[in-house]
Amino acid sequence: MKTINFNSIINLNDIERLAESVLPQYAYEYYFGGANDEITLRENKQAFQQIRIAPRVMVDVSELDTSTTIFDHTIPAPILFAPTAFHGLATPKAEAATANAASISKTIMILSTLSNTRMEEVANQTDTPLWFQLYVYKDRELTRELIKRAEKSGFSALCITVDAPLLGSRERDVHNNFTLPENLSLPNIIAYPGEHLSKENSGSALTTYFSTLLDQSLNWKDIEWVRSITNLPLILKGIQHPLDAEIAVKNGIDAIVVSNHGGRQLDTVPGTITLLPKISEIVNNQIPIFLDGGVRRGTDIIKALAYGAKAVLIGRPILWGLTLAGAEGASKVFSILKDELSLAMALTGTKSITKITPDIIWKG
Ligand SMILES: Cc1cc2nc3c(=O)[nH]c(=O)nc-3n(C[C@H](O)[C@H](O)[C@H](O)COP(=O)(O)O)c2cc1C
Repeated sequence: MKTINFNSIINLNDIERLAESVLPQYAYEYYFGGANDEITLRENKQAFQQIRIAPRVMVDVSELDTSTTIFDHTIPAPILFAPTAFHGLATPKAEAATANAASISKTIMILSTLSNTRMEEVANQTDTPLWFQLYVYKDRELTRELIKRAEKSGFSALCITVDAPLLGSRERDVHNNFTLPENLSLPNIIAYPGEHLSKENSGSALTTYFSTLLDQSLNWKDIEWVRSITNLPLILKGIQHPLDAEIAVKNGIDAIVVSNHGGRQLDTVPGTITLLPKISEIVNNQIPIFLDGGVRRGTDIIKALAYGAKAVLIGRPILWGLTLAGAEGASKVFSILKDELSLAMALTGTKSITKITPDIIWKG
């Protein structure tokens, strides 16, 4: 690992640029890339940049509180680690390093089904809450076993990803014939620990992995099945349509994540922040809404919260932080965003998270 001068890092753009300079190209492109023309990938960020803030002044902001409470856990800022696959491409300790970073940051980490570290080992690395991101496999016994192991190792919620019956066409990975290097495996999936991903292949090995092993028939009845075998809170990740948000609420889902998988699934869907107002309206505070996709600044977080999100999830920047300096790098990403959020709150006249309302959005 290259020695990084942390003083030269001011924002998440700096971290991304440095990470790009040290990662092998195929790994950088796997992390960075989006589907097809990457229109949604870009729009996730641009949509935040186009929103303008309407600050209030003459508010006593001498005491600022960025903390929030999610499912009974108080965390220092409404910033969670999104589930992302293959942290072993970024750092030798893989998801064990990420879990360490979550401990340092005292926030919630969502562990991907496709981690390079066993969920039990990840659970041993952290004293902060962990949620398990679940992909539903055609093999229901395997899926059931993942849920039971997550329960047993102390994960406190299941985050079921519902936007990936098949993998989006990530053309960078197709060009690179993306596979996992031989030293990395998928130890959560005992029946298929990785041979499906590390073979010689043409195109992205992940595409075949998804079409072969994951369940394309996934529908609301399957969520009832998951509900019938676990008492963990169920969070659905990948909701974009207000009607799906409405069904989720009706079906007793505990929370949703408005997400387009970081622009990696269906290209040309809008940036997630564009979707949030309508979804917040229909959900009407009945369950928490989380949002991810393109969150890179404290002002992005304040905008998401103003539009009704309870918290945001951060995907790629955590991977850049891990690449540069393992747990220290990933926790640096958290602290930069928290500090930026705190400053944005001071300058908008919102001294605590609950004071962030739609009034701080400029409506022209
Ligand atoms: C490299 C990478 C791997 C990902 N792997 C998963 C995954 O295994 N499961 C999942 O639900 N989402 C996965 N995602 C999507 C993220 O959870 C999240 O929705 C997205 O990264 C948020 O956008 P951002 O990267 O712009 O912050 C992945 C995203 C990236 C960039």
